[in-house]
Amino acid sequence: MNRSLLAFDETRVPLYYSRKTAGILHKYGPGPRVHFHMGLFEPGHAPNTTVSQRVLQRRIVASQEAIVDHAARTWGAYATPPGSLLDIGCGVGGGSIYWAQEHGTDVTGLTVAGDHLPVIRDFAAAAGVAQRVTPVLADIHSYAADRKYDAAYANESSGYMDRERLFEVVARSLKPGGWFGIQEHFICRPEWTEFIDGYYKTRLGTLTEYIRAARKAGFELEQDEDVTDRVAEFWVQSMAWNTAELERVERGEEAGAWSRERLTESAVTHGKLFRIWRDHALETRLLMFRLMGGDC
Ligand SMILES: C[S@@+](CC[C@H](N)C(=O)[O-])C[C@H]1O[C@@H](n2cnc3c(N)ncnc32)[C@H](O)[C@@H]1O
Repeated sequence: MNRSLLAFDETRVPLYYSRKTAGILHKYGPGPRVHFHMGLFEPGHAPNTTVSQRVLQRRIVASQEAIVDHAARTWGAYATPPGSLLDIGCGVGGGSIYWAQEHGTDVTGLTVAGDHLPVIRDFAAAAGVAQRVTPVLADIHSYAADRKYDAAYANESSGYMDRERLFEVVARSLKPGGWFGIQEHFICRPEWTEFIDGYYKTRLGTLTEYIRAARKAGFELEQDEDVTDRVAEFWVQSMAWNTAELERVERGEEAGAWSRERLTESAVTHGKLFRIWRDHALETRLLMFRLMGGDC
C-alpha cells in the first residue's frame, strides 16, 4: 500500500455524504432513481444551456440514466440479466433501483452514509421494487457477503476505496465467472490529483493500478471503454444548473439545499473540472472485469 492510501482519512467520507444528501436530492431529484455521478451525452453534441433550470435538471438526470443503461447494455446485462448484484457505494440508490426495475435483479446496496438508508427504502418502495433492493450500511473494506452474487457494480465509488482490498472483497462475493462493472475516473496527469481528491474527498488511482489489483484478486479485464469525451459535457450542463440556482438564491427565492457560498465555489470549480476532462487530465472509463474460474 502506498503512502497516499495510508494517509487517506476514511472517517471523512460518511460525514461528507451525510452533509450532501439534501443537495443531491435537490439537484438530481426528484427520484425515485436519483444518481450522483456523471452522465453520458451524444458524441459531439453540446445541448444549448440557455434554457430553464428545470430543463437543465431533466437533461442532467437523463444523462446519468443514459450512462448506467449504456454500461448495462455493453456489459451484456440485456442479453443475460444478473439475478443478483452487489451495488458497492450505492449513494441514494439510483443505480440499485435501475438494476431492480430494468433487469429484475435482486440488489444489495452498500453505503457508508447511514442517512441514505431510509431515503433508498422510500425510493425503492415508490418504484415498486422494495422487495428487490436491500440497502446495507457497510464499509466495503470489511464487508463479508453472506451469499455469492452474479455481478457487482461500483459507480463512481471505487475512487474512495483501497483497490486491492476492494477487488479481494468482490472476488469473495461473486460466483465464478461473475462480472464486476466499474464507472470511474482515472488519473492521467498527476498534477490534478490533489485538487480532485481534495474536492471530492477521494483517492483516485490510475488504470494500471486497478488492473494490477484486479489481476491479483483473480479478475481479468474484459471491457474498457473511454467515455471521457462523452461525459465532459456534463460539467457544462451542471455549471449552467448551478448558475441558475445561484441566480435564484440571489433573487431571494425559496432557499434550496445549496448556500450562496457553496454555489459560488462550485461555479469556479466547474470551470476547472471541464478543462480537466476536456484535456484528458483525468479519464472516465467503463470497465468490466470477470472473475476467472467460470465457464465464460
Ligand atoms: C459518488 S457516490 C456514488 C453513488 C452511486 N453509486 C451513484 O452512482 O449514484 C459514492 C458512494 O460511495 C459510498 N462509499 C464511499 N466509501 C465507501 C466504502 N468504503 N464502502 C462502501 N461505500 C462507500 C458513499 O457512501 C457514496 O454512497
